[in-house]
Amino acid sequence: MAEWLKICQIKDLKESEPYEYDHDERKLMLIKIQKDIFATDRICTHAYANLTNGFMNEKERTITCPLHMSNFRLSDGVPLNLPAEEPLKTYQTKIEDGSIYVLIE
Ligand code: FES
Repeated sequence: MAEWLKICQIKDLKESEPYEYDHDERKLMLIKIQKDIFATDRICTHAYANLTNGFMNEKERTITCPLHMSNFRLSDGVPLNLPAEEPLKTYQTKIEDGSIYVLIE
């Protein structure tokens, strides 16, 4: 069943800096770029690397894996280069009363 999960306050997010959040087995990251907030899984789909240790590109709105350098688009999780082939799971977000929520299904 889908549920909106309260993650943090909007003021907790620093511009273009990944924010980590764990929920059961899920390892999420939230990234704020200007007015947009992206929520995705944070473990690379190629092997086990934490993307929050990777490299942000604010202009392109991507994050690059620190291990083998696959570059993921934050809006839909799609990898833009090999070796990763599977997209990251992405999550819908909403803001209510200054809090950020992620839709978990
Ligand atoms: S672990 Fe991320 S590209 Fe290999």
